[in-house]
Amino acid sequence: MTGYVKNLWYMAAWADEVAGDVLFTRTLLDQPWLIYRKDDGGWAMLADRCPHRFVPLSMGHREGDVVHCRYHGLGFGPDGRCVHSPFPGDPPAHVSAASMPIVEQHRGLWFWPGDPALADPATIPDFGFLDADAGMRRGHLRIEGHYELITDNLMDLTHAEFLHVESFGVNGSIFHGEQTVWHEDDGAIWNNWDMTAVEPPEWSKPMLQPGDTVDQWLHMRWHAPAAMALTVGLARAGTQRADMVVPSMMNPHIITPETATSSHYFYDHEDNDAAAEMARQVFIDEDEPMIEAAQRALGSADFWDARPAILKTDAGAIRARRALMQLRKAEEAAL
Ligand code: FES
Ligand SMILES: [Fe+2]
Repeated sequence: MTGYVKNLWYMAAWADEVAGDVLFTRTLLDQPWLIYRKDDGGWAMLADRCPHRFVPLSMGHREGDVVHCRYHGLGFGPDGRCVHSPFPGDPPAHVSAASMPIVEQHRGLWFWPGDPALADPATIPDFGFLDADAGMRRGHLRIEGHYELITDNLMDLTHAEFLHVESFGVNGSIFHGEQTVWHEDDGAIWNNWDMTAVEPPEWSKPMLQPGDTVDQWLHMRWHAPAAMALTVGLARAGTQRADMVVPSMMNPHIITPETATSSHYFYDHEDNDAAAEMARQVFIDEDEPMIEAAQRALGSADFWDARPAILKTDAGAIRARRALMQLRKAEEAAL
């Protein structure tokens, strides 16, 4: 777990990925972890590696909140302490599995790899729009790319005009848009595009009169390390955004490092097959190959050492990279 900012909340999974009594496993920040729902409805997160001979604890089984290793039978509680030995006498007090604070918020499971005393769930970024049962289906995708390359992708939506022309039916309106990048006190960085009286996207034309123009906005909010929320709006031009063509939408784009060169991508879409197919096309056919190609081209080189050209349209992405670098340096300096 080197190179990551520790004192931050990261998303491990959607809560509904961890169904029933299963011992759910996922590699996060370079290490395999085991996640399970406790009998009291809370959550536990243990290293998926027995401290005795390193086998995955997920090869074992649960009895209540205790995970029993399949190799020599030690049992570990939700805080990682060894609470069961198959031999007479007390369980060995010096044996414990690593554990991390984990909480459920906004349908996600968020973990804190840093100092547990600093883990305040109030600092989990606000994804309250996910709490409503708005008929959405949540998805998870692995991408073979560094998580900051995915932040670059999401904080610079101009790529949609090239990569998502077929899926989104965009038509160059962002080239007539105004970009605003700003910082909030809680560390959020916004990269907003606002388009005024532009040609509507293809998919919206059946809802408009011929010749109608629209106001369109794409507002992306970022929180460290890579938790993003996109607001999309489309209103009939000249109505001060009051006459919406469709209700404005908010979607999560939450990225968690799996390793230094691979990432978990958490997203959602409307709960129907057409929306699922659209998400598949956008994320898997269009974004994923491009991000993976960027990762392959970069190899193990550091992003800044590779001397990337910086464009004005990168302003939000670069601010996010700088903010994360400052957090990383502050933690390193405090060591
Ligand atoms: S490896 Fe788990 S108890 Fe020995
Ligand atoms: Fe994209």
